[in-house]
Parts: sequence; C-alpha cells; structure tokens
Amino acid sequence: MELSRTAKILTVVGARPNFMKAAPILEAIRYHNDCLAASTKSMSPGHSQIAIESVLVHTGQHYDEAMSDRFFADLNIPKPNVHLGAGSGSHAAQTAEIMKRFEDVLVRERPDLLIVVGDVNSTLACALVAAKISYDISGTRPIIAHVEAGLRSFDRSMPEETNRILTDHLADLLFVTEESGIKNLRQEGVPDHKVHFVGNTMIDSLLAFRHKADHSQILHTLGLDGSNLGPKSGNGMARYALLTLHRPSNVDQRECFLNILEGLEELANSCPVIFPAHPRTQKKIAEFGFERFFSHQSWRREGTESFSIRANGRICLVDPLGYLDFLCMMSHAAVVVTDSGGIQEETTALGVPCVTVRENTERPITIEVGTNVLAGTSAEGIRQAARQQLDSHTKGVMPEAWDGKSAQRILEVICRELGSQQFGSIPERADRLMV
Ligand code: UD1
Repeated sequence: MELSRTAKILTVVGARPNFMKAAPILEAIRYHNDCLAASTKSMSPGHSQIAIESVLVHTGQHYDEAMSDRFFADLNIPKPNVHLGAGSGSHAAQTAEIMKRFEDVLVRERPDLLIVVGDVNSTLACALVAAKISYDISGTRPIIAHVEAGLRSFDRSMPEETNRILTDHLADLLFVTEESGIKNLRQEGVPDHKVHFVGNTMIDSLLAFRHKADHSQILHTLGLDGSNLGPKSGNGMARYALLTLHRPSNVDQRECFLNILEGLEELANSCPVIFPAHPRTQKKIAEFGFERFFSHQSWRREGTESFSIRANGRICLVDPLGYLDFLCMMSHAAVVVTDSGGIQEETTALGVPCVTVRENTERPITIEVGTNVLAGTSAEGIRQAARQQLDSHTKGVMPEAWDGKSAQRILEVICRELGSQQFGSIPERADRLMV
C-alpha cells in the first residue's frame, strides 16, 4: 500500500482584505488533513493521498490590531508561522521590503505550492519572488496559485490593477470568482488549462460567519438596534447607511474627497451614516480639516460611551471594525456606500443595496446580477445613486458558484495538480512563455 505523501503549501496574507479570502482555504486544508488522517487506515492498496503541511506567512502590510489581529480572531485564522513585519511605505518601498523578507522565507521553507490572494502589494510581491526563485540549479520553484484571478477594472491608475495583471501572468493556477475573469484572462492570452472558475472564497467566509455575526453587539453599542431612533427598517433595526472610503484616488486629493463628502450630506440628513474609517482616511480628514462633516469622533471600541445617533447631516465617524461587527452592520444596513472592491461583492451576496464611489469596477457581476450601482465621484452622482439605492427593493441574485464551497474546489484542483507533479520539482513549462 502506498502511504500518503506530504506537500507543503505556503499561504500569504498581508492586508485586511486578504484575511477573509484566505481563511476558508486554510480551513479547507485543515479539514482535508483531518479526513486523510481518519481514512488512512482504511485506504485501499495502491491508493495515494496527499497530506498537506500548511505554512502561513503574514507580510505585515497591515499591522494595527484593528486592521489585522482582530480579523485573525474573528475568522479563526491560525497564528502565522512567519511574520515579516514589512509595514507601510511607498508602493515601491513596501513591495520591495516584502520581497526582500519573503525571499529568505521561501528559500528556507521550500514550499511545493504558494497561494496568494487578491490584489494588494503583498500579493504581487510574493508571487514575483516565487516566480524567480530557484531551489536548485535546475530552476525548481513552487507552483504559484492566485486566488481571485482575472478581475480587471481597465484602469491602470489603480495600483491594484497593476498588481492583478502582473500576479495573473506569474501564476500557474488561476482561481476565478466570476465569468468576466475567464474572459479577461483569455483575452490576455492566458491558457485555459491554468484557469479554474471556483467561485468566491470571500463569500465562503461570509456564509460561514453570517450567523455568528448576527450575535455581534455593535448595533446595540452604536444605538442602532432600534430602541432610540425614529425610522426603522423592516427588521426593527434603525434605518442607517454604512460608509467606507479609503481608496487613495478618493481620499488623498482634497477636492475629490470634498466632493464625495458634499455628495453624502443629503444621505446623512435622511438617516444616520456610520463610517468606520480606515487609518489612511482618518489621517486625511485631519490633514484637510474636514472635521465639520463628522460627528461622534470620540467613539472607540473599548469605550463605554453609549450612543444615540440621529440623522443631522453629519457622518458618524468610528474606528475600523472587526470582521463580525462589520458583517453585522452590512447585513442590516439600508444602503452601503463604499469604494472597496470586496464590499461590492459582500453586499451582492447579502442582497443589500450598494453605492460604489468609483468610476469603474473590476467586479461587473455585482452590477449585472447584484445590488451594486456605480455612482462615480461627483457630488451629484453620489446624491442620485444614494437616493435610488435607499429606496431600492432589489435583492439581486447570488452569482454562480458563490455557494460557500469555493475553497473546497480550490483545494481539489491543488491536490490534483500536486498529484500530477513530482513534488518540489516544478520546471519552467513551455506554456508559461506564451503569456
Ligand atoms: C491596501 C490595499 C488596498 C485594500 C486596502 C484595504 C494595496 C496597493 N492596497 O490599501 O487594495 O483595499 O489595503 O484596507 O495593497 N495604515 C495604518 N495601519 C495599518 C495599515 C495601514 O495606519 O494597519 C496606514 C499606513 O500607514 C498608510 C495607509 O494606512 O498610511 C495605507 O496603508 P497601505 O497598506 O499602504 O494601503 P491601503 O490604503 O491600506
């Protein structure tokens, strides 16, 4: 009887939107190993199975408790085996720092396969190191798997667009969340056999944790559980809007940020607007002297102050929330206004109206079948979209394969791929030269 073999998979996370995408994959690996351990005794002769040694690397791109540690706790992610502590910096400095530190880890760990997720600087930095590494003189390197491949905004001024394109063209396995991804990759000449339509691991997390998130106390803490407010939504909660803004193109330029805030005043007059602000945005509000648009800046997660938020034209600024609190707030919001990529998808899955404060989206499915509209960044565009979405009853449709099983599909492909390769020996393949 052939005993099970062990493959080493190294997964990289770095910034907030990575954590909910990687968590279900790490869980699927754990489950796979448990099942394997249970079934080894009854394995038929000649049957071969792959045990997985999982190594988790945190680049440290996001490092605050609120931007990182809290997500590990909320999503039951194991403690990283390696923390690179790369921190913030310009794009070049941050990417280079991650690359330098990651190379040592790769040489030391020599994984058979590397998983990178999403489109942040950590994603590209680690894929690039792996693509150029040589474990030995024959050029052995790990298989590179990119989760959330193929998304395109066709806006090269977005740093994430550069990260997406380059990572996809470095990857050997491309896991796609929506049909547009398949089309985009085909158009760029990526061979079909590398591309796997598996659905969305971020939605795996959402479906897995939705029930737990409903037990969050955040609505009560913010006084939004309907006890002390006027208009209620259908579920007895207060009617409120949830806002996130952090994209450099929106908040780093004074005029643009000002337009957006002016566009939101009407919404803030009709219902409370809660804004868990990213550290980047908090810094810009202070720098631009925009405090007049906000109220309740003193709230902190640890604080005991109780809230009574009323619509008064001002936005209620709070610190960034953890995964479960934010999911709870999204689920019960009348409308979500955002410039985030992932939140467009999460609101689609929840059937909650979303206004995206951008000129484009790399996630067109959220508009085609989902609950999302693009508002642009002009004050009038935002006013109109918020009006339309606040009164919207469209629940949208759950996109294909957003069913909570995406990580499982990814692992099946990975195991097939590892089974078909000689471990630790991934030669440069001819087709890689075609892209
Ligand atoms: C990054 C991602 C973006 C993602 C966002 C989610 C890239 C290019 N961008 O943008 O795609 O939507 O994360 O949050 O990778 N900061 C802190 N504490 C932290 C992390 C950051 O104060 O824990 C500050 C930094 O000092 C810096 C700013 O936030 O001033 C930006 O951080 P950075 O990681 O460079 O990019 P994000 O804007 O967070």
